[in-house]
Amino acid sequence: NTKELSVDHRLTQVCELLMETIPYYDWVGFYFKNGDKEELKLRSFAGEPTDHDIIPFGKGICGQVAVSNANFVVPDVKAQNNYIACSIHVKAEIVVPLFVNGENIGQIDIDSHTADPFSKEDERFLEFVNEKVAEILE
Ligand code: SME
Repeated sequence: NTKELSVDHRLTQVCELLMETIPYYDWVGFYFKNGDKEELKLRSFAGEPTDHDIIPFGKGICGQVAVSNANFVVPDVKAQNNYIACSIHVKAEIVVPLFVNGENIGQIDIDSHTADPFSKEDERFLEFVNEKVAEILE
């Protein structure tokens, strides 16, 4: 339906804007819980296409955030044993959960080709972005 299409379009615009504006954001995507299934589904992204459009809860950084409800900052992806590699160029990752009415319904996921680039400022900024995104989802 039209509303879904326009939300998808706006989410893609958010991904593109973040990727173009912040030099160390090299892939930006939104994953959402896939209906009643215990998995995440990629809804919108900017950057190279990924094979990992479905991620089971608990798997990888994204799947862990789906169950922990907490930000996950990875300064060095090579040091993670529960990690799903999307590109050999990725050195670091940040995942911030997206809450609607207090419920973790999805997340923003950002990959970086720069080592250890993410600070508390990125966390606060992405929490703010997710709050704004929650408003367009309601
Ligand atoms: N690296 C993620 C998978 C998603 S890709 O980064 C786009 C993970 O470990 O969950």
